[in-house]
Amino acid sequence: MSKESMKQDIESRIKDLRKQIDYHNYRYYVLDSPEISDFAYDQLMRELLRFEAEHPELVTPDSPSQRVGAAPVSSFPPMVHRVPLLSIDNAMDTEELRAFHQRIVKLAGREDLAYCCEPKFDGLAVELVYENGVFIRGGTRGDGYTGEDVSGNLKTIKSIPLRLITREPPDLLEVRGEVVFYKSAFADLNRERSERQEPLFANPRNAAAGSLRQLDPRITASRALVFFSYGIVDAVAVGLDSQHATLERLSGLGFKVNPDVRLCHGIREVVDFCLYMQEKRESLPYEIDGVVIKVNDIDTQRVLGIKARSPRWAVAYKFPPTQETTTLRRIEVQVGRTGVLTPVAMLDPVKVGGVTVSRATLHNADEIRRKDVREGDTVIVQRAGDVIPEIVAPVVSRRTGDEREFAMPDACPVCGSGVVRDSAGDNGAEGVMYRCVNMACPAVLKEQIYHFASKDALDIDGLGRKNIQQLVDKGLVRDVSDLYTLTRDDLMQLEGFAELSTANLLNSIQKSKQTTLRRFLYGLGIPHVGQVAARDLADHFGSLDRVMGADKEELQAIRGIGKEMAQAVSGFFSNERNRTIIRKLHQRGLVILEQQPPEPESTSLAGKKFCFTGTLESMTRSEAKNEIEARGGQVVSAVSSQLDYLVAGAEPGSKLDKATSLGTRILDENEFMELIKEG
Ligand code: IVH
Repeated sequence: MSKESMKQDIESRIKDLRKQIDYHNYRYYVLDSPEISDFAYDQLMRELLRFEAEHPELVTPDSPSQRVGAAPVSSFPPMVHRVPLLSIDNAMDTEELRAFHQRIVKLAGREDLAYCCEPKFDGLAVELVYENGVFIRGGTRGDGYTGEDVSGNLKTIKSIPLRLITREPPDLLEVRGEVVFYKSAFADLNRERSERQEPLFANPRNAAAGSLRQLDPRITASRALVFFSYGIVDAVAVGLDSQHATLERLSGLGFKVNPDVRLCHGIREVVDFCLYMQEKRESLPYEIDGVVIKVNDIDTQRVLGIKARSPRWAVAYKFPPTQETTTLRRIEVQVGRTGVLTPVAMLDPVKVGGVTVSRATLHNADEIRRKDVREGDTVIVQRAGDVIPEIVAPVVSRRTGDEREFAMPDACPVCGSGVVRDSAGDNGAEGVMYRCVNMACPAVLKEQIYHFASKDALDIDGLGRKNIQQLVDKGLVRDVSDLYTLTRDDLMQLEGFAELSTANLLNSIQKSKQTTLRRFLYGLGIPHVGQVAARDLADHFGSLDRVMGADKEELQAIRGIGKEMAQAVSGFFSNERNRTIIRKLHQRGLVILEQQPPEPESTSLAGKKFCFTGTLESMTRSEAKNEIEARGGQVVSAVSSQLDYLVAGAEPGSKLDKATSLGTRILDENEFMELIKEG
């Protein structure tokens, strides 16, 4: 056989293998109905990989071999959406659904409307771009205009076709849908993470977002993500006239489409379907938080048009939060990193919306007083979709008289030292806080060490809460500098430690000795100093000595550092105990690298400035602030040209006018929630 014809043979075998693998992928991941065994599938894949290794020039980007996960990237490039992704207005009950229908009837001038009703996935919105039938790129929603290009990660999701099933692909096809994490896979992932003492994901949606925004695609590949499609941008251009037909087309092209979609005629059928899905919700393998109702006919959609940022032709019926009652046994007090005491309700375990709840934070003493919750009360517990469980109220009619009112302790429940009251940040808006002021309180110490070792600080892998607990309780670690004196013998006496785990931990402690100023400042856990402030301080001063030597005025002159923070920083460094710990850290070999290597931006909100006006429905301002800061963003109080986003809640004030005149990007509450969903 000639060389040429041999090459042709190989080429056609490769083509054939790809076709077979794509087909079996589709059977398995899209239809959930495999035709061959895993073993037979692996054989095909192995053969393809072998041929491609021998003939790298024949590898194409749409080959199924390209799903495994490419090399890590340092950050995600922006992905500008050709057509912005809109948000959807909510209908909080069936009354609001009927009102939506009435509006449509009036505007469209007809009664006989068909609605395409689809479960509302509680995942992460993404857009996929196909050119001539081949997957080219894909990205997250971001603020609706610009998201992040996470193509490498999306490629690892097997239910995303790399090539459309069609003989005549359109030049361009933009597909929208949602990446979800199945409930069972989520439970498995968190189980593994807890075994490895890694922080747990709060819910499947966060797990999906966290997995999709991994810089290392191999990590994404290891997570069981699933993509459901629900829309085509400019569907008319590809010959479609309705939403229902769009879904059928998507299915034909090889995408997964929700099987629970229903075409409803008139609002009664819509309401019935919403209530039906509400019942069915728990038994679904993935989380949904409502039903999206879309006018089916695309011509009518056009007539109805869009408002500011959401279409008039669609509405999201949100399931009511799931509530249950249970007994509040007692209120325990936890001590955090800065010594703040937080009351936590210990509950008789109860299933709320499919999740077992046995504890709920009560935030602070004021909240307990406001809600009048007592130990022994029967209480209503609520989980609103994704939100952490909360206690709504006591069931007063069930009181027997044996309930005990709660008072914050005078002494720290962990170390017994005195507790002081001070007013919280936000101009005391959150009321009085109780704080243990013993700097050596074991509870405070444990939290400080945990923070010091966390991923964004000194990044000491393997130093989870359980290990820290043992180290502190045995007196092996009295402050963070003691981490650097730990020996093999110290660790071997701890529960759960063998040769390998000991060596690994010592190794990661050793590795953490070389760090950056940003990480170090963040790791110190100075009150109010999050990642962004730590970065600002590091970039401004360049060396630890200079930060330590700065006075309040100097600190406050830095952009982004307010009075409170300046106070906290200078207070921290003038404290003799803190100075001693820093000295000991140096003596024990900690080196802050002079050259600050550029750190990849770890979150999409990093460095972004937010301001609020009006009231938010789904969270308090300080919760919203926490969400932003946890993602590296910052909240400022005034609108200026430096502002990135103004979040406008209900009844916005004059800030909205100012932001509008400055051309600042304005987010409504739904859009804000979308944005933080991604982080
Ligand atoms: S359609 C104008 N359909 O809801 C309508 N959105 O869009 C555009 N979502 O985070 C969206 N399930 O990802 C649509 N079946 C569904 C959906 C859905 C979930 C999410 C979407 C975005 C939010 C608002």
